[in-house]
Amino acid sequence: MYIKIEGLKKYYSDKLILDIERLEIEEGRITGLIGPNGSGKTTLMRIISGLDLDFTGNIEYNHSPLNEDIYKKMTLVTQKPYLFRRRVYENIEFPLKVRRIDKGIRRKKVEEIMERFQIEDLKNKKGHLLSGGESQKVSLARALVFEPELLLLDEPTSNIDPESMKIMESQIIRFNEETKGTVLIVTHNIEQAKRLCDRIIHLDWGKVIS
Ligand SMILES: Nc1ncnc2c1ncn2[C@@H]1O[C@H](COP(=O)(O)OP(=O)(O)O)[C@@H](O)[C@H]1O
Ligand SMILES: [Mg+2]
Repeated sequence: MYIKIEGLKKYYSDKLILDIERLEIEEGRITGLIGPNGSGKTTLMRIISGLDLDFTGNIEYNHSPLNEDIYKKMTLVTQKPYLFRRRVYENIEFPLKVRRIDKGIRRKKVEEIMERFQIEDLKNKKGHLLSGGESQKVSLARALVFEPELLLLDEPTSNIDPESMKIMESQIIRFNEETKGTVLIVTHNIEQAKRLCDRIIHLDWGKVIS
């Protein structure tokens, strides 16, 4: 899964927020997106994932324009993830249910991913009652469980303890290696970017500067 962005411009009222002449996200790689607060990182992630359709320019996914079928192959994990007021198990199962995966296979996949993230003890807790760090782990598990082609991560480990961060980073790498899924990750943690990323893109005032 490969993304090509050309001539992307995004305005909020008359303020130019993103101005990207050309940017390619390589298939099967982990790409980091770094830049100061307000440089447009979240806006770019929302545009790629289809949450924000109000922009001009071209975005291609494997040489075809973004469309509903393509949006289903990707997922965005936000900094403050939204979890349903249901059990953690059901939250993680949800993307498999939407894709009409058989119940037995769903159970196997959900249990396997909970084990990998070491969150079995959260299984019956309600999603909206979790701590910030727990929510981020559950939300990454929910994103990985259906093996998306493109995984978009917006500061996924921003309020997480070192042990959980290690688990999350190793699961991102495992996902990328095992499924060849493409990853685009926003992070403020330069060390994390160096640990995870094949390439780092620097954004400033809405422009790609390197
Ligand atoms: N809904 C919005 N309405 C108006 N301006 C916005 C909105 N969302 C973000 N912005 C502005 O767009 C710029 C980029 O924001 P954002 O993409 O969230 O940056 P980053 O994620 O890099 O911190 C900022 O100046 C921010 O104030
Ligand atoms: Mg942001």
